Amino acid sequence: MKLENTAPAKINLALHVIGRRADGYHLLESLVAFTAFGDRLSVRPSDRDHFEVTGPFRDGLEGGANLVLKARDILRLHFGAQAKSPVAITLEKNLPVAAGIGGGSSDAAAVLKLLTRLWEIQVPPKELAQIGLMLGADVPMCLYGRPLIARGIGEMLEPFPALPRLPILLVNAGLPLATPKVFSALIKREHAPLPALPSKSDPAELLEWMRLTRNDLEPAALSLVPEIGSVLGLLRAEGALIARMSGSGATCFGIFEHQEAAERTRQAIAQKHPHWFVCATETSASTGELVNV
Ligand code: C5P
Repeated sequence: MKLENTAPAKINLALHVIGRRADGYHLLESLVAFTAFGDRLSVRPSDRDHFEVTGPFRDGLEGGANLVLKARDILRLHFGAQAKSPVAITLEKNLPVAAGIGGGSSDAAAVLKLLTRLWEIQVPPKELAQIGLMLGADVPMCLYGRPLIARGIGEMLEPFPALPRLPILLVNAGLPLATPKVFSALIKREHAPLPALPSKSDPAELLEWMRLTRNDLEPAALSLVPEIGSVLGLLRAEGALIARMSGSGATCFGIFEHQEAAERTRQAIAQKHPHWFVCATETSASTGELVNV
């Protein structure tokens, strides 16, 4: 039996840094969306443990430090005999690495879900989120995988019911950026929280709201990778309704009125910069049902 799923990109549509904990982690408020495009993961029973990475961003990911293998191993630590049988895991790495779009966290979340299914482990979502948090602050939100507001260090989650489907273009100029470096480069750590959230699922209302918000990590990331400024400038010049960096960068996104406009801009940017990662996709909308975190 082979089980497969997509590990979507995580996009911080807004990310405010509102303080810092005594242990150095930052307190955040973020509106988070997930895209249709992402990495692909598969797991199947095997006679021995095996891990294979394919895809355009596979380089350097086969090692034991990969969050995918850490996710497998943490399940074994936690569930013992139930999680013992060997597995072959494949990762098709379509998302750039160290890029602010949660690739590693989303892969880990996908593996936690796939392996608990494969091993038939019954685990309540809250418990799986606690296990995921040991792998990284963004893993619980990736386990949830639907539009949400994240608070705390990113682990306190609340469903966001009013996100429309948004045509979005992701652009990364190929410069990796380590998250701790960006947080260390922050000049100010206490910003205003998010304004009152939009209540209905309407693109115009959401964009209006987004214009009142920021990514507070953007200035710090820009100081480390000035090319982020060129990427944002290009997205704006090409007609993005809003252009912003996601997470700790350096991937930036533009939101467009229609999928065709996003695709036209993808072609224009890819032509100018053939080695950049440029991907037109869409955010998944909030569903009517409110699935508890
Ligand atoms: O939890 P994760 O390993 O993804 O975080 C990477 C680093 O990013 C942390 O070691 C910390 O330096 C920084 N970080 C932070 N505040 C957060 C999340 C991450 O300072 N809320």
